[in-house]
Amino acid sequence: MAKEKVVLAYSGGLDTSVAIQWLIENKNLDVIALAIDVGQERQDLEMVREKALQIGAIESIVKDVREEYVEDFLAKALKANSMYENKYPLLSAMSRPIIVKHLVEEAHRHGAKYIAHGCTGKGNDQVRFEVGIAALDPDLIVLAPVREWDLCTRELEMEYATAHGIPVPTTKASPYSIDDNLWGRAIECGVLEDPWIEPPADIYTMTNDARSSACDIPEYIELGFEAGLPVSLNGERKSFHDIIVDLNLFAGRHGFGRIDMIENRLVGLKSREVYEVPGALTLIQAHKALEDLCLERSVLHYKLGIEQTWADLVYNGLWFSPLKEALDGFIDSTQKLVTGDVRLRFFKGSCVAVGRRSDYSLYDYDLATYDAADSFDHKAAKGFIDLWGLPTKVWARQRRKVGKEGEV
Ligand code: ARG
Repeated sequence: MAKEKVVLAYSGGLDTSVAIQWLIENKNLDVIALAIDVGQERQDLEMVREKALQIGAIESIVKDVREEYVEDFLAKALKANSMYENKYPLLSAMSRPIIVKHLVEEAHRHGAKYIAHGCTGKGNDQVRFEVGIAALDPDLIVLAPVREWDLCTRELEMEYATAHGIPVPTTKASPYSIDDNLWGRAIECGVLEDPWIEPPADIYTMTNDARSSACDIPEYIELGFEAGLPVSLNGERKSFHDIIVDLNLFAGRHGFGRIDMIENRLVGLKSREVYEVPGALTLIQAHKALEDLCLERSVLHYKLGIEQTWADLVYNGLWFSPLKEALDGFIDSTQKLVTGDVRLRFFKGSCVAVGRRSDYSLYDYDLATYDAADSFDHKAAKGFIDLWGLPTKVWARQRRKVGKEGEV
């Protein structure tokens, strides 16, 4: 009888390589390895593909989904100015849903009943995989070998790998856990687990130290937006994808985009996280600067709350959920006229929006100015304040009368 199939989210690293063998041996499954290119630091994906076959996968697929990642996923993140806990632009949380989408697609194409991932039992990513898969096909069964097996130390895992002829890394293992894609890079573990210790200089690969000489000269860029998305850099029309790649290099060279934070994971613990997000942060900052000009006040204020809920949902693995979809609808309708240019200055690790303009700007010079062109009706302010402040006056008088001045 033919064996059942499992589609494994494969990275080419030790965990998921051992997982191939483990799934064959312990679950008696045919393994289809799927590696997804979301713009992670270039690794030879053809080698990754072959490695899975060598270990025993019956099929090994590499999919370059960068374009789709940018157009269907990061576009939504930018429109939502996505920031979990007002700090973290969700880079890992963003890549999981697109990986999930392709895992499910491949499972259907191959008639596989199972999907497997290499996440541990302590992080957010396992939740994002499993809840995402359930949303797209609640009948698929998820296997999490790393959570299940008893190869709990790296030594045991290496021993198991060697015993089964699985290639093991020859260089000393990095003490850090790294996850990266076009939207940035996450660094965890090692000395970073002590929140009092300053991150060592050598953990960074996308950003310069702001004290380096590369950051000594201020440089300006101009970003053009149409309907909430970037369309040009310094006057040259470019794809959103290319703008992200260019900004990662440019802002990274200026030492902009490092984040060192304590983060609240969904599974209940706090963790120390370091991120490099030069392109993402630049774009979110520029996008916000343009929204300040183009969005009507109550829409802008309301959207701030929506953005926070959106980020919580995505962080917590609910990318594929009715609420997230509904919020996307709201956000999209706010973006139709977020069109214009933003000028940014980079200097010594900082990025500041120093200019913004738009044909749809709601900024009215004649209303705002203090010079002769002023068209604001100063006298109307008096009546406005009388009515706006009326409840306050009523309250203050009543409390005074009963001898409870100032009490709520
Ligand atoms: N804490 C971040 C998140 O939950 C980053 C996770 C990075 N994953 C990793 N395997 N290093 O989104």
